[in-house]
Amino acid sequence: MVSIQTIRVHNYGGPEQLTLEQIERPVAREGEVLVRVHAAGVNPVDWKIRQGFLKDFRPMQFPYIPGVDIAGVIEEVGQGVTAFQKGQAVYGQGMGAYTEYAVASVSTIALKPQKLSFDEAATIPVGATTAWQGLFDYGKLEAGQRVLIQGAAGGVGLFAVQFARWKGAHVIGTASRANVDFVRSLGAETVVDYTTTAVEQVVHDVDLVFDGVGGNALPSSVQALKRGGTLVTIAGQPPAELVKERDVHVESFSARVSSELLQTFAQLIDSGEVKVAVATTFPLSEARQAHQLSQSGHGQGRIVLHIAD
Ligand SMILES: NC(=O)c1ccc[n+]([C@@H]2O[C@H](COP(=O)([O-])OP(=O)(O)OC[C@H]3O[C@@H](n4cnc5c(N)ncnc54)[C@H](OP(=O)(O)O)[C@@H]3O)[C@@H](O)[C@H]2O)c1
Repeated sequence: MVSIQTIRVHNYGGPEQLTLEQIERPVAREGEVLVRVHAAGVNPVDWKIRQGFLKDFRPMQFPYIPGVDIAGVIEEVGQGVTAFQKGQAVYGQGMGAYTEYAVASVSTIALKPQKLSFDEAATIPVGATTAWQGLFDYGKLEAGQRVLIQGAAGGVGLFAVQFARWKGAHVIGTASRANVDFVRSLGAETVVDYTTTAVEQVVHDVDLVFDGVGGNALPSSVQALKRGGTLVTIAGQPPAELVKERDVHVESFSARVSSELLQTFAQLIDSGEVKVAVATTFPLSEARQAHQLSQSGHGQGRIVLHIAD
């Protein structure tokens, strides 16, 4: 038996529920690989699950290993796996990510972008997938359209800004003052500092809004749309009356990571068309601090657990 270090959660609750433990190293089954995890992304959904906010429609079996986003090296392949081999550097969705060794389905990993470190690659899977599917599958964004990205500096928003620009759309982003230059550097033509300016006062008649903020931002998202425009929201629902009054269309969804999309992202990154941003790194033993920071709801890029060099 090989024992490994991992973070586990035994009950719903605060960050103190994240405990560093020794467990037996998992084994890759048919259609899976075992990945030596070098880095794990910390997504807001990780603390929402831990807190029990999603337990009605996504109940957890305890104990569980938190996290989804991984980057690392294949340690072993399960039965029937031909697409990958031991020693390859990969990234994608792990079945639990805050751990030294994670099992992943071959359908949710791809070769790591060559230009990136493991820490950088771990910022991509959920964030980029959510941005891509929201803009293109649900938002039907086309070249020449005007799109507002709310939460443009975040782990999802930074990809949404870049993908929308890559598509040829005109991009307006929202961020706090500290992140305005960063969002502009991603390709947004206009950046609204939401801390000093009411977004709905300065943004009108856009074709699409991608809302990665939720709460109080949602009414401004609806008001910024043209009649018949589309709001794609990944963090809550806008007031139904306002939606009706403004005659807009609302889409919400859960992102689904796939090898195909991860390959597309790797190409866009290796060709220099899309960049990534690591907000802060923490060691595995400081997963609690990482969650506390994520819960603040502010920052630039994705928080990462650096697990191995
Ligand atoms: N449905 C799905 O499949 C799905 C997938 C991924 C994420 N999500 C959800 O989407 C949300 C965003 O995720 P994330 O990973 O991007 O989070 P994140 O990395 O924590 O980023 C949050 C960003 O929101 C910005 N922000 C906060 N308040 C704002 C406001 N009023 N106006 C504009 N920007 C504001 C912050 O920028 P400042 O520091 O400048 O304030 C920060 O950059 C979370 O609620 C997450 O759970 C849903």
